[in-house]
Amino acid sequence: MTPDEIVELYLEHGHIAYEGEGVTQLEHALQCGQLAISAGASDAQIVASLLHDIGHLVNRLGASPSLRGLNDTHEAVAARVLAPHFIEAVVEPIRLHVDAKRYLCRVEPAYQGALSPDSTRSLELQGGPLDAAAAADFIARPWAAEAVRLRRWDDGAKRRAATVPGLAEFIPLMKSCAHSPHSGR
Ligand SMILES: [Fe+2]
Ligand SMILES: [Fe+2]
Repeated sequence: MTPDEIVELYLEHGHIAYEGEGVTQLEHALQCGQLAISAGASDAQIVASLLHDIGHLVNRLGASPSLRGLNDTHEAVAARVLAPHFIEAVVEPIRLHVDAKRYLCRVEPAYQGALSPDSTRSLELQGGPLDAAAAADFIARPWAAEAVRLRRWDDGAKRRAATVPGLAEFIPLMKSCAHSPHSGR
């Protein structure tokens, strides 16, 4: 998906709620992007944060698929639609953001207990916490550290009535992280 198609998708379907989370998908995306900005993250990390849950919008399975026992594999869906248009530093942390949650549940005992209701429900559908060997493998992968950072902003991006920039403010950033049309990718 190109940046223009992404904006269209969020404007059309971004009002879908995260059931029980008190925010819409668009609010969650904007809050996550804002948290990355506040942390002084790179442009690619900001864009990854903004777009990390776009797979939910592409799938359009309704407010919270986990309530119906579905693992929508939204991280893989997002990576598939974004990879043709965005650099790896955007795509790969998004692809890994669910495994980053499973990793943090393994290595930080308090993390799992602090997860939001939807993240807790989906955790089991996603395979639960990684075991010790899988956690070691995960954190050794390229982009895993970036995915863990994204995950922290993700967890914080569910506040009611937070003040955030509009989607339009992220368009130049998205364009700066898109492949050049002449790059052959
Ligand atoms: Fe997600
Ligand atoms: Fe999220």
